Order: sequence, then structure tokens, then C-alpha cells
Amino acid sequence: MSASTYPEAATVQAAEGVFIDNRWEPATGRGTVDVVAPAEGRVFARIAAGGKPDVDRAVKAARHAVEEGHWGRLSALERGRLLMKLGQAIADHAEELALLEARDTGKPMKQARADMVAAARYFEFYGSAADKVHGETIPFLPGYLVATERERFGVTGHIIPWNYPAQMFGRTLGPALAMGNATVLKPAEDACLTSLRIAELAAGVGMPEGAINIVPGLGGEAGAALAEHPGIDFIAFTGSPEVGVFIQTAAARNHIGCVLELGGKSPQIVFGDADLDVAVPVLVNAIVQNAGQTCSAGSRLLIEQSAYDLVMERVIERFARLRAGTPEMDLDLGPVINAKQKKRVEGFFSRAEADGVPLLAMGQVAEGAPADGFFVAPRIYGPVPRGNRLAVDEVFGPVLSAIPFEDEADAVRLANDTDYGLVAGVWSGNGARATRVARKVQAGQVFVNAYGAGGGIELPFGGMKKSGHGREKGFEALYEFAALKTIVIKHD
Ligand code: NAI
Ligand code: MG
Repeated sequence: MSASTYPEAATVQAAEGVFIDNRWEPATGRGTVDVVAPAEGRVFARIAAGGKPDVDRAVKAARHAVEEGHWGRLSALERGRLLMKLGQAIADHAEELALLEARDTGKPMKQARADMVAAARYFEFYGSAADKVHGETIPFLPGYLVATERERFGVTGHIIPWNYPAQMFGRTLGPALAMGNATVLKPAEDACLTSLRIAELAAGVGMPEGAINIVPGLGGEAGAALAEHPGIDFIAFTGSPEVGVFIQTAAARNHIGCVLELGGKSPQIVFGDADLDVAVPVLVNAIVQNAGQTCSAGSRLLIEQSAYDLVMERVIERFARLRAGTPEMDLDLGPVINAKQKKRVEGFFSRAEADGVPLLAMGQVAEGAPADGFFVAPRIYGPVPRGNRLAVDEVFGPVLSAIPFEDEADAVRLANDTDYGLVAGVWSGNGARATRVARKVQAGQVFVNAYGAGGGIELPFGGMKKSGHGREKGFEALYEFAALKTIVIKHD
């Protein structure tokens, strides 16, 4: 695979198969899945449709790698160095990977480039952390020494979505590998080419056989086979709550743990004393980034009633200027991922219209954007009635719901009035108030006078309520992919 220009990147043939023991092998069933370019609405590549026998081989390869192979014998320092080399390889191939990711997901090139910086950074972060995970000694009875250590699970399974494929690859595999696990990854059928390419890069920097195995294919086939496989010791999943239930049920049957990240309906809480010059561009970007297909998108704009008109005037003005286009046009946003997602998002629009929710502004699909692309002009609705689907459901599209609140207590009530709890933003010039609200909002991450949808590899990230459980990113993710063992030694 050598792609350095946009059209060539298109011809990448992931169809070589499944990636096991650092080699491409044909998938057992030999079927393929079409890969569609969302900005063009047409097929540009094919991937192997992995199935149960492929997952089985991948899990066996991982088991061998960790128990008998070279991978399992490496020190934490050596593992870390390999991961840092992989990070460097991603950085060295950033342009090629960004072109591939942009074609595969439709996202603007600037976003795809930023994604590759983040993907490389995941391996740098977890590579440099691999040899810094310590246990403790615990004071106990006289005559005893008690120590804890964090022990790898063995084989970890990973199922990732299509919205930020390369970043997700780093986010989930980085910490699992740093802790010494061997991994089997099922990337999303809608966008997985960078995962396949990065696996090749990993082999190229000397990652031992079996440490990273990739089985592309459909969720209900390759994904389900991985989730249910009795040979995995832990599973990490990012995607929809519906599939999250399936993953957790499968994990329960095998008595293994899981980390689930299942999206959100994250509130941006704006008080009248917020600095709007700083806030407004961030508020708009937090929903428009990646066409709203970000688990931590700031999709609810909660505004103090007294400042509602002023804030909305500025947000609307900005929203109306937004434009969607192809990756090369490099505008504010790209298309959504596929025809089904476009239909889903437009379904929310029809219902909003039927419910009489006022549409306040719309961006545009740029002239020249292919008619067959899955473009959705961004929209802002408000005031959205509390409890309306636009106020509580995850749309996963470029749609912002504005809702006024009365006072601080009402803001907290409203912010917590969804099943989700992933991220929140609080905007206020009153530090004590912002702190109080930040502590009362149900969310795994809260930003004050800032918002970082998807940002911050150093920052532990994960959900409360229906957004899932467990933590990714930061040092916490390393603990997530290991079991704590307590060793009790009697010496007197
Ligand atoms: P999905 O949950 O079906 O897909 C995510 C991953 O799970 C993909 O790799 C898919 O192949 C896999 N998968 C699907 N069914 C599976 C099964 N039975 N067993 C094992 N793996 C399976 O999400 P989908 O259908 O692509 O998007 C639907 C909605 O889910 C979106 O509109 C959005 O609301 C939410 N979503 C949230 C994401 C997040 O970042 N939290 C990412 C993607 C989707
Ligand atoms: Mg699905």
C-alpha cells in the first residue's frame, strides 16, 4: 500500500484480508464489504468480511503472542519503545493516513490531519507510560510484606466505531498494549482503512507477531464473534448503547470485564456572565466538528434565560455561515458517514417540524459538493421543549438544541435531564458558581470556560449513566487494561 495522493489513497486494498501474526491472510468466507466514500456516495474500496473462524485464529495468535511468543517476554520498557516507534511511524505517514481517513469518513482534511497528530500522540503517551505503572506496598500484620502489581489480562478484544477510526485505534490499543496484553481489534465496517494501514506500520517498526491482530468485517458477524469469544479476557467497546448492551451481555457470559463508551447528549451551560467572545466559537465548533458525529459533541446549548436572546443572536449568526463540503474543500464540516445516518438525522428534522420546534438557522451544503454525498446542512433549533427528542436523544449529526434555563439549580436539573452523562461545559465569569455546577453535573468530564470534544489524551474520559462505564485516555486507561494482584508474603 503506497498512497501519497488523494486519488491513489482511494485504491488502498484492505481487501487483502485479515491481519493476523503480522500477515495478511484471506478471510475464511472470502466475502467482502464495500467501503463507501461518504463525500461521493460511491464505493472506492473493499474490505474482507471476517467471520467467526477468523476471529478464532486471531484470538489464538494473540494468546500465543502473550504466553509463548516474543511479545510476552518483552519488558515494559521494550514494549514502550515499540509503541513510541509506532507513534513516530504514524507521524511520518501522517499525510498518507489523513488522506485515507478523509476519503473513508468524509471529514475535512484539517480534521483528518489533526486526528493523525492525536493517533500518534496516543502511542507516544502510552509508550512513554508503559514502564511507569507501579504497584504499592501495604502495611499489614507484623511479619508480612504485602505488595500489589498490575498484571496484564492476556488477550483483550476491541471494537471501535467509524467516527474517529485512527484516534480510536490509538485510544484503545495504546493502553492495552502498554500493559502487555495482546490484542484483537474489530474496526468499523463503515471506516477502517487507517486501522489496517496502521497495523502494517506496527509490523514495520518491529511489533512482534500476534500483538496486534485485526479482523475487519460486519458488526453482527466479526464483531459479535469477537465479543462472544471465550478466549478473550477483557473487551473494550465504543459505539451505540444498543450494541453496548450486547457487548456487556456477552462479557457477562464469559465472566470478563468491559469498558463501554456509548455516546452522549452533552450540555454546554452558558450563564449570563460568560465571556461570549471566547464561548461562542467554541460552542458552535463543539457540535459541528466531525459533522456532529462525536460522542462528546456539545449537542445541547443551555442558556440562562436573561441572556438567551443575546447568546442566540451570536450563535445563530455563526451557524448561518457554516458550510459542509468534501475533504478537499476543507470547510467547516463534511458529510455524515452513510445514507442510513443521513436518514436518521433527517428523521429528527421531520419530527422537530411535526412537533413545532422552531428552526432558527441553517448552514449550507457548499456548491460543488457531490449530489450523491451524504451531506447534511447544520441546523440549530430553539427553544427546544424539555423532554422533546431533540433535547434528550443523541442525534449524531450537526444539530444543536438550544434550551433556556431559569437559574443555577434549574441549569443543573436540565443538564442532568437525559439518560447520558459523558461531557459537559460550564461557561461563567463567576468561578465559585462554575465550580458548584461542574461538581453537580452528571458527566465523566466537565470543562469550565472551555470545551474539548474528543481532545486531551492525558485526560481520563468515560461516561456515567447510559454513556457507559470504565475510563479511557490518561493514566486511568492503563489500570483499565490490567488486573490488580495483591501478593501477601509472611517472612517471620
Ligand atoms: P454501532 O454501535 O452499530 O457500531 C459501532 C461498532 O460496533 C462497529 O465496529 C460495529 O461494526 C460494531 N457492531 C455493531 N453491531 C455489533 C454486534 N452485534 N456485535 C459486536 N459489534 C457490533 O453504531 P452505528 O450503527 O454505526 O451507529 C448508530 C448510532 O450509534 C449513531 O447514530 C450514534 O448515535 C451511536 N454511535 C456512537 C459512537 C460513539 O462514539 N460513542 C460511535 C458510533 C455510533
Ligand atoms: Mg449498527
